[in-house]
Amino acid sequence: MTHDSQPAADSNSAAINSADWNAEHYRSRHAFVFQSSADLASAWLEPQAGERILDVGCGTGELTRRIAESGAEVVGVDASPDMIAAARAGSSLAGLTFEVVDAHALAYPDEFDAVFSNAALHWMKPLDTVFAQVADALKPGGRLVLEMGGAGNMQTVIDAVNHATATLGLPELPHPWVFPTTAQLATLLESAGLRVGRTHWFARPTPLKGEDGFRAWLEGFGGAWLAPLNDADREAVLAEAEAYARPKLWTGTEWMADYRRLRAVAVKGT
Ligand code: BEZ
Repeated sequence: MTHDSQPAADSNSAAINSADWNAEHYRSRHAFVFQSSADLASAWLEPQAGERILDVGCGTGELTRRIAESGAEVVGVDASPDMIAAARAGSSLAGLTFEVVDAHALAYPDEFDAVFSNAALHWMKPLDTVFAQVADALKPGGRLVLEMGGAGNMQTVIDAVNHATATLGLPELPHPWVFPTTAQLATLLESAGLRVGRTHWFARPTPLKGEDGFRAWLEGFGGAWLAPLNDADREAVLAEAEAYARPKLWTGTEWMADYRRLRAVAVKGT
């Protein structure tokens, strides 16, 4: 989607196939996802001992574990059984549990003091359903603390794939993510009964490890996006997209992805 399209109304609910996730690939090639947002789990969330906290889209559970170290009781949920298996295989901690749950069907009425989410919500169309579920899961006065891709996130990669399909005479492939503007996110949150207290959109140029970093990113995260292509077309699109992106994202020594982040804190009305 483009920056100004409306996330909730986007009917391309290309729900990621949770079986597509490869936890090992994610953890080894994309550790920046949890490393760069550590302060979200500490300074933004400020977890307190004794609180009950839900981590939505917890992935392999690194930040979930960090939150639980505060003494809070933490439940990490993710739609991918592979991610939850990897999270459970990590070191155990009192008060830390992981469950395979789709965020569109949380079913934890009034249970949590806080809901946390990092780098997961942009996969979850339609977002209005997810925020309604989050609001339901929060106790009155409970807080949602989130980071997701914001408007303009990975725009050069999106442009590169669109350029590649057009150049090769292939149909355009709509990407599966939602990257809202601050105003769009605020509208979604307020519509779910969550009062927005703080938002922050910012650029986070992000190195993608290795000469093959651009491809590795697309292979790690773009599986659902490129799935309509046969093997030969997929290879051609990857090569063409990489050539298009090189002058924009290759610094001479590494790939630098144009990540754009959007953070928010919102409180369930009493
Ligand atoms: C992100 O964290 O911004 C992101 C990750 C995978 C796909 C798209 C965006």
